[in-house]
Amino acid sequence: MEQIICLVMGYVFGLFQTGFIYGKSKGIDIRQHGSGNSGSTNALRVMGVKAGLIVFMGDFLKTVIPCFLVRILFRSQPGYIYVLILCTGFGVILGHNFPFYLKFKGGKGIAATAGIMFSLDWRLTAVCLLVFVLIVAVTRYVSLGSLVVSAIFLCWNIYFGHLGAYGLVPEARPQFYAVSAVIAAMAFWRHRANIVRLAQGRENKVGAKKKTE
Ligand code: G3P
Repeated sequence: MEQIICLVMGYVFGLFQTGFIYGKSKGIDIRQHGSGNSGSTNALRVMGVKAGLIVFMGDFLKTVIPCFLVRILFRSQPGYIYVLILCTGFGVILGHNFPFYLKFKGGKGIAATAGIMFSLDWRLTAVCLLVFVLIVAVTRYVSLGSLVVSAIFLCWNIYFGHLGAYGLVPEARPQFYAVSAVIAAMAFWRHRANIVRLAQGRENKVGAKKKTE
């Protein structure tokens, strides 16, 4: 039951579409430009560095805030708290990727995934940030960086969850692994067009002209 509450609460926070709102404030629907994604990468591509940073921070914070609230609200269940944080974060991703009031056309959930990482473990965040920056610096493919850190997120959670790092009670572990897998799978599903373009050598590079979905 708590898992459902967290999922719904996360979805409500995820509905705050930073990229769409910021774009509208500049007179454009970001989903009609660039890759059509409403996230920070496309905000950067379409509206510039300042927009990219603002949209990233908005989408990051809309994940960190409800995850923090859940940590306080459910502090009496320490053996499950990281499962509940993951459920909240997944709810944010659902709200971000599929906002009902925008005909379910939102983003890809990577800034929200970064917010989940930050809410779970700063070391995971640091490793993923480093890997992401390196990949983007070398290849200039943001999508490749997003996919690799999503895979690291899943592997990290399974490995360290198994070692007892999150203080999970044994019954909570399968849920923790399952929600981690669903979050990573969602990232890959949302990037399926990017994956095809990467395989064909046609993916958008940071600083280059875009290709639409
Ligand atoms: O976070 C989204 C990024 O990985 C790809 O964005 O707009 O190039 O499809 P985009």
